[in-house]
Amino acid sequence: MDMINSIDEMQQRAQLASVSGQKISFVPTMGYLHKGHLSLLEEGRKRGDLLVLSIFVNPTQFGQGEDFEDYPRDLQRDADLAEQAGVDIIFAPTAKAMYPQHYATYVEVEGITENLCGASRPGHFRGVATVVTKLFNIVQPDSAIFGTKDFQQLAVIRRMTADMNMPVTIVGMPIFRERDGLAMSSRNVYLSADQRQQALVLSQSLAVARQLVAAGELSSATIIQSLKTKISAQPDAHIDYIQICHQLSLADQEQVDIDSVLLLAVYVGQTRLIDNGYLVEKT
Ligand code: PAJ
Repeated sequence: MDMINSIDEMQQRAQLASVSGQKISFVPTMGYLHKGHLSLLEEGRKRGDLLVLSIFVNPTQFGQGEDFEDYPRDLQRDADLAEQAGVDIIFAPTAKAMYPQHYATYVEVEGITENLCGASRPGHFRGVATVVTKLFNIVQPDSAIFGTKDFQQLAVIRRMTADMNMPVTIVGMPIFRERDGLAMSSRNVYLSADQRQQALVLSQSLAVARQLVAAGELSSATIIQSLKTKISAQPDAHIDYIQICHQLSLADQEQVDIDSVLLLAVYVGQTRLIDNGYLVEKT
């Protein structure tokens, strides 16, 4: 496995792979790898001859007062896990190389970025769309693998790659969870033992919502109200949003149907956690 920091070197490796007929699969991350990331790498391993993992804590997707400085980082640990996962290249550029002095170009995806995390984290998806575009131009992947844990992010990337005719196949992978249901996240390390217990309210809310729907309750307002009551009962939890949206447009839905996704963002203490899932079992 190679560790590449230089953008030029990464681009040259990608071009070399491409002329020798190798397919490049790509998993972009901000590092501090967990089993969710590893499940993406496993899929990437199957889809390409050259598997590239990027590790870059992207400053442009963090807002003022968010956790950019504190975001967990451990490149050595990540490199060990990546090697075991069969990664060929880790691409880990510096922020200075990605955003040099006089940097001035950003990618804006309209519409689907305005709701949900886009509303509570202004500028976040502009940062994500920009860095993913840059990473695609550097790594030149045939396929790129993302998690549905970040449901809106995946929708934004799909929209952007389609709209901009980017020659890359976007693959979405299911949410990888702890045994007790908590969605894996690099941010889970911020939680105290007690908060970790309280954080289960997110996945439990999904289960409750599905039960309500299975029992015939299709009013989004009623379902959301009962989840608000449940989540508010946790002493350290405060709700950022609970919404039921159409899986493609991400527009709010008054009535649940086959396309409905429940999306939650909840602070447990200072830690912002997200989760989501379909409300009607797909057959
Ligand atoms: P990061 O949070 O490190 O996540 C990298 C990828 O792992 C994303 O596609 C995310 O959806 C996926 N992922 C995270 N937790 C997961 C889980 N429990 N199960 C399955 N997949 C999971 O998302 C980002 O980084 C950044 O925004 C990035 C796309 C790299 C741009 O900077």
